[in-house]
Amino acid sequence: MKIFYFTTTGNCLYIAKNIGGELLSIPQMLKQEKINFKDDVIGFVIPCYGFDVPAIVRKFMEKHSFEADYFFAVMSYGNILATGLSEFEKLANKSNIKLNYTNGILMVDNYLPVFKVEDQLAKAPGRKIDEHIKIIVEDIKNKRENHVEKISMGMKIFSAIIHKYNKSLKPTIDQKFSIDDNCSNCETCAKVCPMNNIIVLQNVEYQHNCSFCLACIHNCPEKAIHIKGEKSASRFRNEHITLKEIITANQNL
Ligand SMILES: Cc1cc2nc3c(=O)[nH]c(=O)nc-3n(C[C@H](O)[C@H](O)[C@H](O)COP(=O)(O)O)c2cc1C
Repeated sequence: MKIFYFTTTGNCLYIAKNIGGELLSIPQMLKQEKINFKDDVIGFVIPCYGFDVPAIVRKFMEKHSFEADYFFAVMSYGNILATGLSEFEKLANKSNIKLNYTNGILMVDNYLPVFKVEDQLAKAPGRKIDEHIKIIVEDIKNKRENHVEKISMGMKIFSAIIHKYNKSLKPTIDQKFSIDDNCSNCETCAKVCPMNNIIVLQNVEYQHNCSFCLACIHNCPEKAIHIKGEKSASRFRNEHITLKEIITANQNL
């Protein structure tokens, strides 16, 4: 079994590790020449971004091809999944992948422009994350079929508005980030950036090729990187995942 995952704060890596198999980082696989991946089971564990699929995951799916007897997709999200998984299903169909199993898993929201990390962490125990992961692991082990339920018309309209907003986001969005005096020039931000968008010389310098994943902000050991309008000074990383694992997954240096 091969599992392709994308993570910035560890939730998806935690799910992928629980499922098991050969774990392959999407940012790393994106750097490879076109590959036809083959296995008995192929899975994708990815976060929901703006009721949609992260742009880096889209690029990955469009570049490579996949052959398996059983395909699954698990999408981790922080509050509302909406059309996230159905957008991934459309993308998979374009690559001739017929997903046998899709499921969403409500975890901790890392979207700082809207949510306070403290509030999200307080909600986590009630979300019974590990219990849900266990169910998903069993489902996949037993090659069960599942598709997330269809969403309401109201939610479809709301999703269309959010998708339009997503499209308006430019790679120069890193101009909204600022660095405070606590920065120690440790280069962690550059190492966790899946876009290779950060150079650290005398200062942290963004190259305006940002995918707005917030990896640099959440993983800064000094909490020195900020986004305009952020809702809390706290930062998030899944308690079971180390900074080293995020660096290994995304690193460019
Ligand atoms: C740019 C961005 C957009 C997001 N959009 C959504 C969303 O539409 N719905 C949602 O429930 N969570 C959203 N989230 C939260 C993540 O999906 C969630 O925290 C996920 O578990 C992160 O996975 P990771 O820790 O593996 O990176 C968003 C996060 C980011 C950074």
